[in-house]
Amino acid sequence: MTARQARTGADTHPPTEAETSASDREEIATLADIRRLAGGCRRCDLYEHATQVVTGEGSEHARLALVGEQPGDQEDLQGRPFVGPAGRLLDRCLQEAELDRDECYVTNAVKHFKFERRGKRRIHERPNAGEVQACKWWLDRELKILKPRLVVALGATAVQALLGRAVGVMKQRGQVLPGPDGLQVLVTVHPSYLLRIPDSGAAERARSAFIEDLRKIHTVLGK
Ligand code: URA
Repeated sequence: MTARQARTGADTHPPTEAETSASDREEIATLADIRRLAGGCRRCDLYEHATQVVTGEGSEHARLALVGEQPGDQEDLQGRPFVGPAGRLLDRCLQEAELDRDECYVTNAVKHFKFERRGKRRIHERPNAGEVQACKWWLDRELKILKPRLVVALGATAVQALLGRAVGVMKQRGQVLPGPDGLQVLVTVHPSYLLRIPDSGAAERARSAFIEDLRKIHTVLGK
């Protein structure tokens, strides 16, 4: 896919020789290969302004994968997924659902931070369909290596990347939907959504519902 196509979401064509990066030519067999090669990714334009690529993190033997949207400001600076405010909230909710982040593989649908600069601040911008599609190349490889029993889709972008179709997150949340290649996908909201709810009572209820969704993981994994 050309950078322009990724930007606009236009139809794709097989990459030309010039567009083919090292990652296309080298064999990718481990998550370490992904970490090593994704730094040179030019599948879309997002690498141009991001500090670094942020690939997934966690055990190669994890049975559970969590997929978010894209790295945020802190993740971009630290090079690790879910380490900013949304990540801290995710960690607390996982704990409350009696899940251990160390036993999960945590990643994003898109591996570079997309933002708009406003003065000194970098404001998150949602990746477009072409960028999600371009980065699915990496997500597919992460999941092929990991072969998780269950993947949790955190929000609409992750759902779209994992299932290849739009799904009403609020309607389908808490449900396990079948994805390609036998993937089992638990749909839920993104933790950033919880942070944006202004009313404290509503935020607390939304947080409890999120933890309820996460608790369903035990049933699927048989713990
Ligand atoms: N939001 C995401 O979707 N992923 C991160 O890694 C951080 C914030």
